[in-house]
Amino acid sequence: MALLPILCYPDPRLHTVAKPVQAVDARIKALIDDMLETMYDANGIGLAATQVDVHERLVVIDISEQHNEPLVLINPEITWASTDKQVSDEGCLSVPGIYDGVERSAAIKVTALDGEGRSRALDAQGILAVCIQHEMDHLLGKVFVEYLSPLKRNRIKTKMLKARRETERA
Ligand code: NI
Repeated sequence: MALLPILCYPDPRLHTVAKPVQAVDARIKALIDDMLETMYDANGIGLAATQVDVHERLVVIDISEQHNEPLVLINPEITWASTDKQVSDEGCLSVPGIYDGVERSAAIKVTALDGEGRSRALDAQGILAVCIQHEMDHLLGKVFVEYLSPLKRNRIKTKMLKARRETERA
């Protein structure tokens, strides 16, 4: 297992549209292990392959307090989304330190393959529904700050670029 570097907004690679995973093979299983390790290490509740610069449709999620209930979604598809919406504060490992409200469907139904390549269907609501929608956006090249106003988004972009320059100087 290995920690993977996480791309930081506004890295243009975060806007890549991911392709379907062709086979849940040893390479994908190793990637899942590395992504889970990377997500836990960074104290995140979700990580999309896009964020580690792998542009295939794979996300890992764990919303449990003990960090012991990993959920792996490969080639996920939302088959139903409630018209009922909820706004919640979101953060992202690719936009460290930024939290803001985003409106999303309150409940969704999803189909995906699990980490063993088995077909799964699940119903999600609350934080799990938010997290799945957030991670699936990454696979489409979309970062949550794109839901915010252009003014806020530009402030965040400036802040992130400044932080990066400071890191590079250090
Ligand atoms: Ni994110």
